[in-house]
Amino acid sequence: MNKTVLLIGLGNMGTALARTLLDAGYETWVWNRTKEKAGTLLEKGARWSKEVWAAVGSVDHVVMCLSNYVNCVGLLSTCSDLKNKALIQLSTGTASDARSFENLVKQKRGRYLDGAILAYPSNIGDPRCSLLVAGNSLA
Ligand SMILES: NC(=O)c1ccc[n+]([C@@H]2O[C@H](COP(=O)([O-])OP(=O)(O)OC[C@H]3O[C@@H](n4cnc5c(N)ncnc54)[C@H](OP(=O)(O)O)[C@@H]3O)[C@@H](O)[C@H]2O)c1
Repeated sequence: MNKTVLLIGLGNMGTALARTLLDAGYETWVWNRTKEKAGTLLEKGARWSKEVWAAVGSVDHVVMCLSNYVNCVGLLSTCSDLKNKALIQLSTGTASDARSFENLVKQKRGRYLDGAILAYPSNIGDPRCSLLVAGNSLA
């Protein structure tokens, strides 16, 4: 897996994911509706994507972690091209949400993985933290 990622959504979970990616050496681009929440991550070395999809061309993977799929659909609708990047959806939703979202990702020329985080933000990065992931291979 290459070490560049765009992480969209810096709530409690997204911030924990971004911090862990930075600690693991990933070049981590971030975007959040409320930019102020990125402050600590930017000090830690994260890079700010001025517009939500502006950094897609600079990364190998995109991670979304918003409050729900409706908000993710709203944001992804504004993306013109995912440039064959893998989008990893870590927002909580139903199987039906995931299937619909996968179709939208494919329309935007992206590859799709859907994940469920079985942990609290404070446990992200802990070896006992589990993620369930399904979808296309990243290869
Ligand atoms: N926290 C947990 O323990 C936990 C555990 C497992 C899974 N999850 C899942 O992880 C996801 C994120 O959870 P969280 O705890 O990080 O939630 P959170 O702290 O409430 O953060 C919600 C995120 O969604 C963004 N957002 C909400 N409405 C938006 C909109 N209309 N457009 C763009 N962005 C919007 C927020 O942006 P702003 O900052 O601008 O408001 C924020 O980045 C959820 O799907 C949750 O079910 C959470």
